[in-house]
Amino acid sequence: MASLPRLETLFDRSSGTPIPLPRELREAYGGDLIFPAGERPHVYANFVSTLDGLVSYGIPGLASARFISRGHGGDRIVMGLLRAVADVVVSGSGTLRAEGKVTWTPQQIFPAAADLYRQVRRARGLPERTRVAILTASGDVDLSAAVFTSPDVEPFIVTSAAGAERLAANGTGTVRVRAVGDLAPTMRGAIDAIAAETGARLVLSESGPGLFGRMLDERVVDELFLTLAPHLAGRSPARPGIGLVDPVAFEHERAPWADLIGAKRSEDFLLLRYSFRR
Ligand SMILES: NC(=O)c1ccc[n+]([C@@H]2O[C@H](COP(=O)([O-])OP(=O)(O)OC[C@H]3O[C@@H](n4cnc5c(N)ncnc54)[C@H](OP(=O)(O)O)[C@@H]3O)[C@@H](O)[C@H]2O)c1
Repeated sequence: MASLPRLETLFDRSSGTPIPLPRELREAYGGDLIFPAGERPHVYANFVSTLDGLVSYGIPGLASARFISRGHGGDRIVMGLLRAVADVVVSGSGTLRAEGKVTWTPQQIFPAAADLYRQVRRARGLPERTRVAILTASGDVDLSAAVFTSPDVEPFIVTSAAGAERLAANGTGTVRVRAVGDLAPTMRGAIDAIAAETGARLVLSESGPGLFGRMLDERVVDELFLTLAPHLAGRSPARPGIGLVDPVAFEHERAPWADLIGAKRSEDFLLLRYSFRR
């Protein structure tokens, strides 16, 4: 196997139960990956942003997150690991529209560790196929996208009653659909539906800044894994880009604050881990 990137752990204050990892992956990650145990599903989000907080240039041809990370190996191996340990990966229709080829499987983002990710899933008793839930209020999703057709994915859609009607009219084939709410699912309703469907304990959100903002607003997110890529994108009225939480704004007094519980380094990238469980 090609040598894996190695992260330097600057500090780690996470507590709970370590996920059993193969030696090579544990060494690459710079130690244990620990998640708290709890009654309800644990929701952790993952993003890569520029130093000035952009997660997407937001323009056709440059909308994908890979233009933020430039495909950095240290970021990708962690993305793959976070996907591999998840019972379910959740994303949103906005991200699907911007990144049509993405399947949200660990092996797609970092193929060199595909076997190791498979071992992680087996040790956790997870199915080989990645369970992916796509959130859409309108039901306007392209059912021919890779996430719905890949043999590596068990996809389902969480939407509103109106969205479910629209999807049914288009014919969803084998893709399961769950309706939550009349016009738009609440984030708590969506996570509860996902947990009921799959028995999920660890839920990774790779949705975009729109749904992430709504999840924060509803206090549904427990943790954020945030990779800071060492570049600055800037903003202008002509090219505003998309920020980490966008287009959601919090009242100053209600703005979510987090505890920094981990920091790792991979070359000039910082991989930060924040907890919202205050
Ligand atoms: N840098 C990174 O790490 C990273 C990570 C993820 C995404 N991104 C980038 O973020 C961009 C996409 O951002 P986004 O915010 O549009 O994506 P998103 O959060 O994935 O999806 C937003 C969409 O979710 C749907 N939705 C589902 N439930 C909803 C509800 N209750 N209320 C409102 N809308 C609901 C809406 O579309 P419909 O109802 O019409 O379907 C909405 O447009 C892309 O450029 C992507 O590359 C970057």
